[in-house]
Amino acid sequence: MTHKDSSDIQAPVLPEARRLGVLISGRGSNLQAIIDAVAYERLRASIALVISNRPEAPGLARAARAGIETACLDHRRFGSRQAFDRALVTELRKRSVRLVCLAGFMRLLSVEFLDAFPHAILNIHPSLLPAFPGVDAQRQALEHGVKITGATVHLVSEALDSGPIILQAAVPVQDDDTPETLSGRILVEEHRIYPEAIQMVLDGGWRIVGRRFVRFAAEDSVERSRF
Ligand code: GAR
Repeated sequence: MTHKDSSDIQAPVLPEARRLGVLISGRGSNLQAIIDAVAYERLRASIALVISNRPEAPGLARAARAGIETACLDHRRFGSRQAFDRALVTELRKRSVRLVCLAGFMRLLSVEFLDAFPHAILNIHPSLLPAFPGVDAQRQALEHGVKITGATVHLVSEALDSGPIILQAAVPVQDDDTPETLSGRILVEEHRIYPEAIQMVLDGGWRIVGRRFVRFAAEDSVERSRF
């Protein structure tokens, strides 16, 4: 299934089913933002599992410190992308994960993986997509000379850093910015909007219209679901 198929208004995910799987490759600061948002009940969900494709990812220790189950699936040990993705799906399904959050997970996912979690995979990217997809988005923005960049949370589709946009935040570029200073200010926004976007998706009352993630007011969605 792809995003093109979704015309139905999504129902809210029941509280007990709000189980997140977070996929990381490195530092895990966005994972930490999700952990904190859950702890302070700004995000009404639980983190069922954190998976890293890199054994040395510092984010694994963050999860362990928070008492969250972790798994490491080293992609280099799998014969193909499909085999790796199948193993990911198996681990996530074993914990009844409802929503998959990519948080600095630097692997492209196969169609098989996307089909296993229709409309239920989110990604965060450090630019105002569709500008500057791929690696080093902050450096790309600086080198291009844009005056405003930012962060994007989107539903994941087949192409790299694409899919319906859920939330964005703008960050002005300063003349004396380096990739590091700019990344730091974007990261503040990433940590703010990622938990918020996850909550919006779990709360339902939205649907995909063309490329757009469109929300409806509560009474509006009740009204529309009658037809
Ligand atoms: C974040 O800036 C995230 O937006 C980016 O990787 C970083 C991971 O940091 N993701 C991408 O570039 C995806 N294309 P973190 O491990 O501290 O969350």
